Amino acid sequence: MIVLGIETSCDETAAAVVRDDRTVLAERLLSQLAEHSLYGGIVPEIAARAHLEHLDRLIAETMAAAGLSFTALDGIAATGGPGLIGGVIVGVTTAKAIAAVTGKPFLAINHLEGHALSARLTAELPFPYLLLLVSGGHCQLLAVEGVGRYKRLGTTLDDAVGEAFDKCAKLLGLGYPGGPAIERLAREGNAQKYRLPRPLIGRPGCDFSFSGLKTAMRQTIEALGAKERTDDGGLERKTVADLAASFQAAVADVLADRTRHAMAAFRKRYPQTAMLVAAGGVAANETLRKRLEATAAAAGFAFLAPPQRLCTDNGAMIAWAGIERLRLGLTDALDFAPRPRWPLDPNAPKAIGAGVKA
Ligand code: KG4
Ligand code: ZN
Repeated sequence: MIVLGIETSCDETAAAVVRDDRTVLAERLLSQLAEHSLYGGIVPEIAARAHLEHLDRLIAETMAAAGLSFTALDGIAATGGPGLIGGVIVGVTTAKAIAAVTGKPFLAINHLEGHALSARLTAELPFPYLLLLVSGGHCQLLAVEGVGRYKRLGTTLDDAVGEAFDKCAKLLGLGYPGGPAIERLAREGNAQKYRLPRPLIGRPGCDFSFSGLKTAMRQTIEALGAKERTDDGGLERKTVADLAASFQAAVADVLADRTRHAMAAFRKRYPQTAMLVAAGGVAANETLRKRLEATAAAAGFAFLAPPQRLCTDNGAMIAWAGIERLRLGLTDALDFAPRPRWPLDPNAPKAIGAGVKA
C-alpha cells in the first residue's frame, strides 16, 4: 500500500510518499521562513499563496524521486484541518484533483491525528498509549486508543506551548520559529538565573497554562538593569541565553508535572500498558525529550518520541495517517469540506478556564 501525503496547514509546504512497511519512499518539504520572518510570525495570506505557488512542483518532485506515477498510488491523503484555512484548501483541493483523475481514494487527515500517529511510522507501537501533543497550535494530553479514537485528558487554557516558545523568542529578539532558537541559546545559559512561574504545577488535573509565563518573561526583561544590556539598550547575549534557559526549564517543569498527572490517570484507565509518546514540533526539543523520558521512567512508563524531522510538520506523517485510515477503509468523499477547527476528541469536557483551544 502506497500513499501520497500532503501537508499545507501552516507554514510548511510538504509532500511525501510512504509505503505501509514504514518506508518513506520520497519526501519534499519547503519552510516558508523567509516569507514570514519580516513579520515575526505567520501571515495566513502569505502562507496560502506560497502553498499555491510551490505545492504542485513539490508533489511532482516527490513522485519523481519515488519513481512512481500517480496511478501507482493506493490513496491520496491531505491535511483537512485544523489549521490556516487558505493553506488547507490548497492541499485538500490538490489531493482531491489527483484522487478524481486517478480514481484512487481521498483521505482527509486531521493534522493532530498526523502528529498523534507519527510515532507509529518509525516504531512498532501498539495502542493504547498516552500522548503529549505539543505544537505551535496545540498542547494536549490524550489517550490514543486507536485510529480515530482519542480521549483528551488535558489541554491548554490559553497559549499552546510552541506559541509560548515563539512569543518568548520574539521578546528576546530571536527570529521565528522561536523553539529552535531558544533551545540553541539555552545551551549556553544558566537555567537558575531568572525565577519564572510554573503555571498550574501541583494543581489537580492535566491542563496547561502558559500565558502567565510569557507575561513574567516580559516583566523580567523590562526590569533588567544596565549590566544585562548592551550600550544601545538591547540584551547582552549572556542575558538572552540565561533567559532562554530559565524559560525552557520552566516549560520542562510544567510539562513534566502535567504529564505525571496524566500518567496516573492513564494507568487507572489502561492498566495493561505504560507508554508515553511525545509528538509535535516542541517534541523536537532535546532538553524536553530528556526530561519527559526521565519523568516517564520515574512513573514506570516507557518513553518514545519520533525522530525530530517527524516532530515538526511534514508530509510523511500525513501519508502515514492516510495509510492507517486506508487500512481500515476510512476514506473520505470528494465533497469533504476543509475544517479550520477540528478537535481530536469532540466529546472532551471543556477545560476549566477561558479561551480553551480545540
Ligand atoms: O508541529 P509544528 O511544526 O506545527 C504545528 O502544528 O503547530 O510545531 C511548530 C512549533 C513552533 O511553535 C516551534 O517554535 C516549535 O514547534 N518548535 C520547538 C522546537 N522546534 C520547533 N519548540 C521547542 N524546541 C524546539 N527545538
Ligand atoms: Zn503540526
